Amino acid sequence: ISYEAEPYRIKAVEPIKRLTVEQRKGAIEQAGYNPVLLKSEDVYLDFFTDSGTGAMSDRQWAALMMGDEAYAGSRNFYRLENTVRRYYGYRHVVPAHQGRGAENIMSKMLIKQGDFVPGNMYFPSTRLHQELAGGTFVDIIVDEAHDAQAPGLFKGNVDIAKLSALIERVGAERIPYISLGATVNMAGGQPISMANMRAVRTLAQQHGIRVVLDACRSVENAYFVQQREEGYASKSIAEILLEMCSLTDACTMSGKKDALVNIGGWLALNEASLYEQASNLVLVYEGLHTYGGMAGRDMEAMAVGIEESVQQEHIQARVKQVEYFGHRLAACGVPVILPVGGHAVYLDAKRFLDHVPLEEFPAQRLAVELYLASGIRSVERGTLSAGRNVTTGEPNRPTLELVRLAIPRRVYTQSHFDFAVEAIASVHRRRKELRGLRLTHEPKFLRFFQARFELL
Ligand code: F0G
Repeated sequence: ISYEAEPYRIKAVEPIKRLTVEQRKGAIEQAGYNPVLLKSEDVYLDFFTDSGTGAMSDRQWAALMMGDEAYAGSRNFYRLENTVRRYYGYRHVVPAHQGRGAENIMSKMLIKQGDFVPGNMYFPSTRLHQELAGGTFVDIIVDEAHDAQAPGLFKGNVDIAKLSALIERVGAERIPYISLGATVNMAGGQPISMANMRAVRTLAQQHGIRVVLDACRSVENAYFVQQREEGYASKSIAEILLEMCSLTDACTMSGKKDALVNIGGWLALNEASLYEQASNLVLVYEGLHTYGGMAGRDMEAMAVGIEESVQQEHIQARVKQVEYFGHRLAACGVPVILPVGGHAVYLDAKRFLDHVPLEEFPAQRLAVELYLASGIRSVERGTLSAGRNVTTGEPNRPTLELVRLAIPRRVYTQSHFDFAVEAIASVHRRRKELRGLRLTHEPKFLRFFQARFELL
């Protein structure tokens, strides 16, 4: 299993340390057996998220000095606007403090009470904003996406038959837009193919329905298209990204992923009337339409980050690093979702802890054990993250019960991954010793962030 050498060298380092086993026991108990509630200082390798955790380049750090912190009309906004136009191709850009800020505006603007929003699997914040705006999310992803063991190069694809059936059932006028994720986070970072996006586009156009892209990991998606889809091998990442975006009407973006910054986001679209609405709503929730919750310097760093994100060496090393980690784990017999996705390796907790019932949160328990055993932080993506149905209050029952090990961009080296592989494989060897968890505190929204547990 080969490792693609990094296309950068290290110019600044941040020391990290590993607590003793006893200290880790104390820390996770205090955190209510929820790794989200650990102090970052108590974590050795932090695979909690790839969001906002990347390392900026020297050019991005230099860009911070170019911040124009004017309240209105900052030059950094125009730089960002031009960069988004150039690489994503939309006409209008509205900045936001991060992805969910953009989702809030998009949802408020387009969704009416009683609407349906089909999507290739949900993402918690995206779905919640759709629901808060009065919509009902409908999952239209291909069945394989719900099966951790199914093969498939594009497990993020939309099932066109499911989409047609929904349009037939509720009528196009009650579908404000189709929400497309690329890649699909909750399915394991799986990509959607260009051909599938085109098919969605065609069907949507026939019915006058908009397509809105969740663009936060679309550069990673573009890399998979280049590697896996016929006809794209000789196209650049930038060309593929532009083509993907051209098949949609608008996007929301969390700059904390592909765009290599610690904070920031935007939405982008083509219709002038929608732009007017969005740039009015942004004033209410984020800030003026030329900063939207970001400092000028952050917009500058994001513009540079977008340019770097589409470079072949960067994205190739990025995705291959994730792949190396996943393939090494699989070679040790650890159940991971295959093919490995773009931003994270997902452990299949249903198989890893097949003796722990779903009511006892096996994925959460596994995340706790990885921390106890090695100081690695990961995040549950299963029963806990799926939350409850907003109307009935019943727990949602996802088919996937996963632990996500998300890889920050340009942060860890091969030896960190080798360490993590050994640690996870050793937990796997003694998995039968583990019991589940009992939920002791459950917040109302996005419960996985603040829930607390006790060990059974
Ligand atoms: N869409 C997707 C697919 C995401 O993964 C995220 C964030 C968002 C939207 C929201 O963006 O955090 O900037 O408000 N995902 C992070 C994660 C939190 O860990 O996967 P945000």
